[in-house]
Amino acid sequence: GAPAKIDISKIEPGAMLTAEWRGKPVYVARRTPEMLANLDGLADKLKDPANSVKTQQPAYADNVTRSREPEVMVVLGVCTHLGCAPKYHPEVKPEPFDENWKGGWFCPCHGSRFDLSGRVFKGSPAAINLEVPPYMYESDGVIVVG
Ligand code: FES
Repeated sequence: GAPAKIDISKIEPGAMLTAEWRGKPVYVARRTPEMLANLDGLADKLKDPANSVKTQQPAYADNVTRSREPEVMVVLGVCTHLGCAPKYHPEVKPEPFDENWKGGWFCPCHGSRFDLSGRVFKGSPAAINLEVPPYMYESDGVIVVG
């Protein structure tokens, strides 16, 4: 399929837009400094905090933020359980998510939870992290996926 050019310049801090690539939703979220600071403390709550499944991100996104630039998260909106579209929940909130919820994506189909790097929480039916597609920056405000 053709690469997808996405204008990310208007995404406010904390907000997310949905684009499309190869017929799949691509989520692009602009994380705040507070959101980024929360990522480090989640490791023991996650199934694969070390990104050990290498198919799920390009080498340049094999880091805690799972991204090229820390603020900008690019991830496929396809749950790694059975393929539903996880919903974005940027806010920190407790139940019914759980006491460790610091925002991320929640899959309404069977309740898988992912953090703001797309890493899957323990207790989720999904086994592996959301997939980060290959992408590059064409300019500060435009990325190209594919
Ligand atoms: Fe997302 Fe099952 S498809 S939890």
